[in-house]
Amino acid sequence: MHARRALDTHLGELTWARAGSASIMRNSNTTHCVHAKVRTVKKPSSRILPSEITPQTALLTRRMALGGALAAGLLPISSPAERVSAAESSPKRLPATRNAALSVTETPNKFEAISGYNNYYEFGTGKEDPKQNAQAFRTTPWSVAITGAAERTGTFTLEDILKAQPLEERVYRFRCVEAWSMVIPWVGFPLAALLQRFKPTSKAKYVAFTTLHDPDQMPGQRESVLKWPYVEGLRMDEAMHPLTLMVVGLYGQVLPNQNGAPLRLIVPWKYGFKSIKAIVRIHFTEQQPVTTWSQMAPREYGFFANVNPQVDHPRWSQATERRIGAALFNSRQKTLMFNGYAEQVAGLYKDLDLRRYF
Ligand code: MTE
Repeated sequence: MHARRALDTHLGELTWARAGSASIMRNSNTTHCVHAKVRTVKKPSSRILPSEITPQTALLTRRMALGGALAAGLLPISSPAERVSAAESSPKRLPATRNAALSVTETPNKFEAISGYNNYYEFGTGKEDPKQNAQAFRTTPWSVAITGAAERTGTFTLEDILKAQPLEERVYRFRCVEAWSMVIPWVGFPLAALLQRFKPTSKAKYVAFTTLHDPDQMPGQRESVLKWPYVEGLRMDEAMHPLTLMVVGLYGQVLPNQNGAPLRLIVPWKYGFKSIKAIVRIHFTEQQPVTTWSQMAPREYGFFANVNPQVDHPRWSQATERRIGAALFNSRQKTLMFNGYAEQVAGLYKDLDLRRYF
């Protein structure tokens, strides 16, 4: 059964492996969403010729410039000391200002780890598959359909979407349900600013997001490891929360394909599977959306998926997490309620039983 295959992979996180330059500890007990270890999807690398690989990041940068972000006269992001990767000298830098008030002060993971250790089943179930298999993915032209309970609906180009959206850098904690974590300097803009432009009606109680479905380009979609396309959703108040980000870059440069280019969601107080990549549809709805992982294994992955050290995954503890890139002897740390964002978001759930609605 696919569900079991996917489950066996998502969380196969606890055995030792190498991911790029980072040492990765996998735990045979922890197979996220089926996410990590058992590679049941064959690598389709032979389908992608090196000659087919295009410099997509340059294309997105150009689009963003056209979209008006540059014209907004924003200052470049200031560079923290850790920013030693190629991003430093890259011509594909995005104009964005650091939002210090909404950033954590922990040291960000290296660019190589963030872009080399990924979950993106459309490009394979192994952590290193997306980097290898997503390079030829075409992110231009790109459009996003806005549908459902809103006054303004239709199909909008990425340029439209980005228009008049000043970009910010926000350093957020990122906690995967597989019990590993990173700290990531994303570049994006508040989802609320985008949603407001479409004037959602009073019937819009939830927002659903859908990833591109294109098996020709996304080899993982030729396998039934998940039900495609990938769908995620938020309650309207979660979507409108100031921490909820639409992301187009990281480390001051255009988002690598394997991280969800050209447009992905980041909800820092929720497990990483809520942060859907390569979004092509945003749907306002009255009903709670049926989301990919909660549909695949409802007892393991809830709709809310708030980071919660007190509610274990049925197959492993969520009390601690392994910080990718940390020294081995102190790589495990306590998981924080709402991933450390309790002060900002706990109020959203004051009437919700978090054990039942996990
Ligand atoms: N979005 C799509 N479309 N497909 C996926 O497989 N994986 C999710 C999420 N978004 C996924 C996705 C999971 S499980 C995680 S943990 C994060 O993306 C990983 O994001 P990253 O690769 O940038 O670290």
